[in-house]
Amino acid sequence: MTGHHPQTRAVHPPVIAPEGSRPMAVPIYQGHLFAFDAADDLAAAFSGPDEAFFYARMGNPTVRSLERAVTELEGGAGALATASGMGAINAVLTSLLRSGDHVIAQTALYGGTYGLLNDLADRWGVEVTFIAGDDPAEVRDALRPTTRILYLETVANPTTHVTDLPALTAAVQGTDVLTVVDNTFTPLLCKPIEHGVDIVVHSATKYLSGHGDVIGGVAVFADQDVHRRVWHHALDLGCTADPFSAWLTVRGLATMPMRVARQSASALDLAMRLADHPSVTRVHYPGLPDHPQHEVAQRLLPDGAGGVLAFELTGGRDAGRVFSEAVELISLGPSLGNIASLVMHPASTSHRQMDAASLAAAGIGEGTVRLSIGLEHPDDLWPDITQALAKAT
Ligand SMILES: Cc1ncc(COP(=O)(O)O)c(C=O)c1O
Repeated sequence: MTGHHPQTRAVHPPVIAPEGSRPMAVPIYQGHLFAFDAADDLAAAFSGPDEAFFYARMGNPTVRSLERAVTELEGGAGALATASGMGAINAVLTSLLRSGDHVIAQTALYGGTYGLLNDLADRWGVEVTFIAGDDPAEVRDALRPTTRILYLETVANPTTHVTDLPALTAAVQGTDVLTVVDNTFTPLLCKPIEHGVDIVVHSATKYLSGHGDVIGGVAVFADQDVHRRVWHHALDLGCTADPFSAWLTVRGLATMPMRVARQSASALDLAMRLADHPSVTRVHYPGLPDHPQHEVAQRLLPDGAGGVLAFELTGGRDAGRVFSEAVELISLGPSLGNIASLVMHPASTSHRQMDAASLAAAGIGEGTVRLSIGLEHPDDLWPDITQALAKAT
């Protein structure tokens, strides 16, 4: 299927079929065990992620269909499907790092990843240098002989900061440093491996599955040996995907090109309307010309800047909270990439422990509101947004 457009490939997923048949849809292989006639064949199955199926924690035909589909999607050499996005991130970091190793990571990270890196620093003796992620010189200055991983996100939450992946990966070219990129916000829109990235991670909970009914993750590898190393460790961690979640995700992938295109177009439309609203002081959306990394977004995300946007309300913390509770069609909830639109007010929920100064250091305002735009018509979402703005200000 390589060579076809993503929307064509998406409805023809790689299916692992029973011999002699050609199912159109990926079947669910719910069993956890596969039997063998010869002990040597079973022994061979233990050696890697592409061998025969024997025990579902190590591999399962439904899970492998998902892994192959996402490998193709990201242009990698192999993938590991996990029980959650954090499962993928944890498997990658803990399989490739040991005590004394050094990581360079951007400051604007998903909270779970930030917490995991700090935990690895506190309890495992891994050293971490946080950088803003805007300048390759920051990466070169932070490099040490012990640096093993450069960790980035294509688009960061909730500020929609866009990372210049080609520029930052070029800064570690010629070293042993592996670049890991969380591409959860921009599947299909950006293919980090094409920009020199070694490992791409996703929370499949979001756009990949898309329908708000899955917790899952995927890591995609540019190099087969790195895939093998992480696979071996993931088996011990016990964080691999179960067949039913994998099946729901592979089913969701079929419509992802359509969903992501529509969600991106609606997000741009609403970002432009919000930018003109008197109660809104600023809109963060990479597709808008005044976004600080708009030029980077034009290069990295030419087909759309994704379905997530954020904006600042004149009324600060109280206004943000009231807005998030006043929406009716949009739901208040801590996720994104869903078919239905979602709102979050970080200062009163996920970041409630932080005062104004700490929020500002993380690039978040007290009145910052994040919207994840779903598949509703923007003309239905706009009246909901404006009535909530009226209540909030
Ligand atoms: C960018 C990003 N990465 C990783 C994760 C973690 O994914 P999961 O909740 O599937 O473990 C999230 C969750 O919100 C996320 O937004």
